[in-house]
Amino acid sequence: MLDLARQYRTLHEELLRALEHVLETQQFILGEQVSTFEQAAAKRLGVAYAVGCSSGTDALWLALAAAGIGPGMAVVTTPFSFFASVSAILRAGAVPVLADIDPVTFNLDPAAVEVVLESGRGAGAGAILPVHLYGQCADWRGFSRLGRVRGLTLIEDAAQAWGAEWDGHSAGALGTAAAFSFYPTKNLSAAGDAGMVTTNDAELAERARMLRQHGMRRRYHHDEIGWNARMDGFQGAVLNVKLKYVAGWSDARRALAARYDRLFRAAGLAEPGTCPTHGIVLPGEVPGARHVWHQYVIRTARRQALRDFLTARKIGSEIYYPVPLHLQEALKGLGYGEGSFPEAERAAREVLALPIFPELREDEQQTVVDAIAEFLS
Ligand SMILES: Cc1ncc(COP(=O)(O)O)c(C=O)c1O
Repeated sequence: MLDLARQYRTLHEELLRALEHVLETQQFILGEQVSTFEQAAAKRLGVAYAVGCSSGTDALWLALAAAGIGPGMAVVTTPFSFFASVSAILRAGAVPVLADIDPVTFNLDPAAVEVVLESGRGAGAGAILPVHLYGQCADWRGFSRLGRVRGLTLIEDAAQAWGAEWDGHSAGALGTAAAFSFYPTKNLSAAGDAGMVTTNDAELAERARMLRQHGMRRRYHHDEIGWNARMDGFQGAVLNVKLKYVAGWSDARRALAARYDRLFRAAGLAEPGTCPTHGIVLPGEVPGARHVWHQYVIRTARRQALRDFLTARKIGSEIYYPVPLHLQEALKGLGYGEGSFPEAERAAREVLALPIFPELREDEQQTVVDAIAEFLS
């Protein structure tokens, strides 16, 4: 599914030198490597501020808290994402309110959010938190209009979307603030847990910096209850190295996705629409978006059988995500149930992610396509 060692082999000398530099300078927590990365990342994304932190989960919490989202407020988000998109809202003391997804992109649907905001459920909404799932930006035209018209803060969950764009603007530069994850499997990844908040708002950035250090502006003077959510120097050093290459990796992912598309179509396996019957539904790039293919996710009506077939041939696949968030045990208290979000529930039954990473070889990709063709025949 993913062979991270291939990337490491191409970078190992450079990475070891960078890590050694951290050991020599002994700047293990924040420090020079982290601030260098923050500045370079902000410049790359076209934002004024970037605040490095300990994980994508903490970045979501920091972005929400620094934007003033807290108790007594609701945040509208998607039921089809990683757990942290919702748990960070609860951690900030706010109430997650969910709306269904667009079946084409799997992203939160602005029209569904509008319906929720019109209903009683959206009362007290202070923010919308769209997730750029699988590496494609959520419909930012729709969300910026909603934010403007209703006076809502927009927080991007850009954990899976380093390098993605909407109308030529980078993910991370679209909302009031954004959260990135540099978890090792992400398109831009650290050698452990790391994350980052981005924003153009000076006050928000300053507050995020303070909150990641137990609410300290001055050493041992605590203005607010923050948390320990700092990025460490080793992660900053690794990210500084990888930042130089990540644009090329995004291009490689885009080329691989285009090739999957060609191969599946040439083999006659692609079905139109979003409801698979005998074939597979391919993922696509919608107008306005520059997709960076964190995942290449097909839909299939016979997912388990296909997955078993691929596994028997030593082909990796993965399900992101098998249980939508409103049906998670830990989130029962939100008051939703089976049938609340039909598109998220159908996606959870049908999606299957196929191998895609910059170093994936063409012959390996052909093997994946051939195996799926054999299964469907
Ligand atoms: C959409 C999404 N949001 C948030 C997170 C949380 O990031 P992290 O694992 O770095 O805490 C992840 C990554 O796992 C993610 O995929």
